[in-house]
Amino acid sequence: MTENKPQAELTEQSDVFLDEVLQGLAQQQPEIPCKYLYDERGSALFEAITQTAEYYVTRADLALHQAHANAIAERIGPAAHIIEFGSGAGTKIRLLLNAAEHLRAYTPIEISAQALAASVDRLQHDYPNLDVRPLNADYTQDIPDEVLQLEPPARRRVVYFPGSTISNFNRDQAKQFLNRMKRMTEASGGILIGVDLIKSTDQLLAAYDDAAGVTADFNLNLLKRLRDELGANLQIGDFRHEARYNDRFERIEMHLVAQRDTRIQLDGREFVFSKGNSIHTENSHKYSVASFTALAQQAGLTLIETWTDPDQLFSMHYLVPAESPVS
Ligand code: AVJ
Repeated sequence: MTENKPQAELTEQSDVFLDEVLQGLAQQQPEIPCKYLYDERGSALFEAITQTAEYYVTRADLALHQAHANAIAERIGPAAHIIEFGSGAGTKIRLLLNAAEHLRAYTPIEISAQALAASVDRLQHDYPNLDVRPLNADYTQDIPDEVLQLEPPARRRVVYFPGSTISNFNRDQAKQFLNRMKRMTEASGGILIGVDLIKSTDQLLAAYDDAAGVTADFNLNLLKRLRDELGANLQIGDFRHEARYNDRFERIEMHLVAQRDTRIQLDGREFVFSKGNSIHTENSHKYSVASFTALAQQAGLTLIETWTDPDQLFSMHYLVPAESPVS
C-alpha cells in the first residue's frame, strides 16, 4: 500500500477486508482468506519463519536453485523474457541471472511498490545490461498482454513462480492459475514453477509449528489485525495456533483454535466459539511429482523437466503448453 493512496481507496480496502472476514467467520468452518496474513508485520514474520530450523521450504528452494541453475538456464534458452510472479526482495532470480546468458528482459511483478522499487534498483546496479521491466501489480489479477510485449520481441516468455506459493491454492484454483500462466506464455513459452513435495507428516507439522513460536505469532497476527484495523472485540489469548495435516487434500492447514469458550464481536455481529472450535487461516498443498504432473496436464501443460534439491524436499518444474512445438 503506498502512502499517498487517497483516503477513499483506503476505506474501500478495509471495507473489503471487513466484508471478507464477516463472510468467512459466518461459515460452518470459520475461515479467513490467507492473503490477510501478509500485512507488513505478517510479511516480516513470514521472513522470520524462513529462518527457523524447522521451515525447510525456503532453504530447499535455494539449494535447488544453486544445484541446478545451469540446467534451468539452459532450459530457458537465449533471448527469453522472464516474468516473475511475486518477486518480493528479488533474491532467487539472481541465481538464475548468474547462470542465464543473453536474456531478452526480466519483468518482476510485485504488489508492494516499495519492495519492487528497492529490488529493481539493486538488480539494475548489479546487472547493468539487464533489461528490467518492473510491473507493480497483483499477479492474481489479469495482466493485459500489451504490458508484456517487447520490441524486439523475446524468443519465448517464461513465467517464473518459485517458492511454492501455488500451494495456497486448492487443486481447482491451482489448475485455473496454471491455465492463466499458460495463456500468458503463448505457444512458444514455458512455466518454471516451484512446488513443495509430500514428505513425512512429522516433518511437515514441525515446519508449520516451529518451536520458537514464529509461525504461531504469524497466525495470531490475523487476530491482532481484526482487533486493531477492524475494531473487533476479541481476546487474542483465547486462541492458539495449530498446524494440521489434512490427508484427504494432501495439505497443511493452519487454524486458530479456541482454548476456551469465547466470542468475537465485529461490526455489530457476534461469532461464538466453543473450546476446540477453530478459524481456518491458511492451506499449504503438497504434491508428488506425479500428482503435480497430472494437475499440469489438466491445465493443458506438458511437463518437460523436473529438478529437486539434494534432499528431495522441494521441486521445480518446467512446463510448456501441450500444443507447444517442444512438447
Ligand atoms: C508462502 C505459501 C509458500 O505454504 O509454506 C509458511 C506460507 N505459512 N508457514 C507455505 C507459510 C506458514 C508458505 N507459502
